[in-house]
Amino acid sequence: MPLNRRETLGLLAGSVTLMATRPVRATQESTPVIETPLPPFANLLELETLASKVIPKPAFDYIARGAGDEQTLRENRDAFSRVFIDQRVLTGKTVQALDTLILGSLLKSPLVVATMAAHGLVHTTAESGSARGAAAYGTLLEVSAVSTQNLEQIAAASNGDKWFQCYLTRDVGFNRELLQRAQAAGYTAIVLTADVTVGGNREQDRRNALCLPIPGNFLDRTGRPRAINRVFENRLGPDSLDFVRQHSGGLPLVLKGVTTAADARLALRHGVDAIQVSNHGGRQLDGSPAAFDSLLRVAAEVQGQVPIIFDSGIRRGLDVFKALAAGADAVAIGRPVLYGLSLGGWQGVHAVLEHLESELRTVMQLAGAATLADIRATPLLNPDGSPLQQGIRS
Ligand SMILES: Cc1cc2nc3c(=O)[nH]c(=O)nc-3n(C[C@H](O)[C@H](O)[C@H](O)COP(=O)(O)O)c2cc1C
Repeated sequence: MPLNRRETLGLLAGSVTLMATRPVRATQESTPVIETPLPPFANLLELETLASKVIPKPAFDYIARGAGDEQTLRENRDAFSRVFIDQRVLTGKTVQALDTLILGSLLKSPLVVATMAAHGLVHTTAESGSARGAAAYGTLLEVSAVSTQNLEQIAAASNGDKWFQCYLTRDVGFNRELLQRAQAAGYTAIVLTADVTVGGNREQDRRNALCLPIPGNFLDRTGRPRAINRVFENRLGPDSLDFVRQHSGGLPLVLKGVTTAADARLALRHGVDAIQVSNHGGRQLDGSPAAFDSLLRVAAEVQGQVPIIFDSGIRRGLDVFKALAAGADAVAIGRPVLYGLSLGGWQGVHAVLEHLESELRTVMQLAGAATLADIRATPLLNPDGSPLQQGIRS
């Protein structure tokens, strides 16, 4: 007898429990693919509610919740609602292609998939599913150093471009090894995450006694853990950028976790190729300003010298529009991608990206912006109608 939706989702949730204790070690050929149709959703906020019904609670909390009082987590969303668009209705324009070129990757739109740990918590296809979904849509995947599958498995899962995101640990040899493996596996850029010199205060994870699977990159060929004590380096500085650059074989370097003009200035001085403005989705420093507010400051400092990728709080096409108008060149989508993966595997990831693009196109049409350049030239307004101080506008 065919399963109904509820039973299907229950089965998925069951497989998730298994994943929480046994990381996937599959190759591209043997990756089990469960393709479920995505339940109907009107927007990505609703998708989160749907996902909360299939992802086991400790895993869902790990994804959805933030650090401390979750002030920054809330602010990331609230900041968008403090900003308005200077709408033009007589431009005679209609929305064009959204092709975006960033660090040598030609993307269908300015949407990329943000780096996130442990995709295997939500779906048996884990990062391979996300890689396939991102590639099917036409964008790149940022792959976390602490992914469920190892970086070679993920690289082989799709033809789409991928950036490897590293944390620096106290083991210099291990850092070097991961960077070398990423080059060998064909990653096209390195993302250094700078806002995790120590884990954030995630109280809900402690309440849930969350135990994450050992990341695929930390297992040896036989599946045994080989690096479980690789604790974060808690002294990151400009020399850390130099270290990563020195061992990345000339790959472009993206610095992720920048929220201030001062850090952006330093990063530029040390030759970064792009800056990812992010407060880690409110998971690290609770009390860090809304990422959108940080974007305005960083963009004003960067003045178009390198591309800016923005993340933390994007849930609507409207948010994407505002971020691009505020100075971002691309936006990275985080939590909603995991929700899509949980509900529909690679097709769910694809659907999330398509949905955001469709919302973005509607906003563009209504705002009178036909191209990405038009978005960048669109003034943003404060609630009283006065112009918002924006970063760079072409
Ligand atoms: C479950 C989860 C795991 C994450 N793991 C990483 C990681 O391994 N490395 C990293 O740099 N950022 C990580 N992030 C942060 C994301 O890259 C991104 O900054 C954040 O999700 C943006 O917030 P949003 O999802 O609310 O838009 C993670 C985020 C989530 C939700």
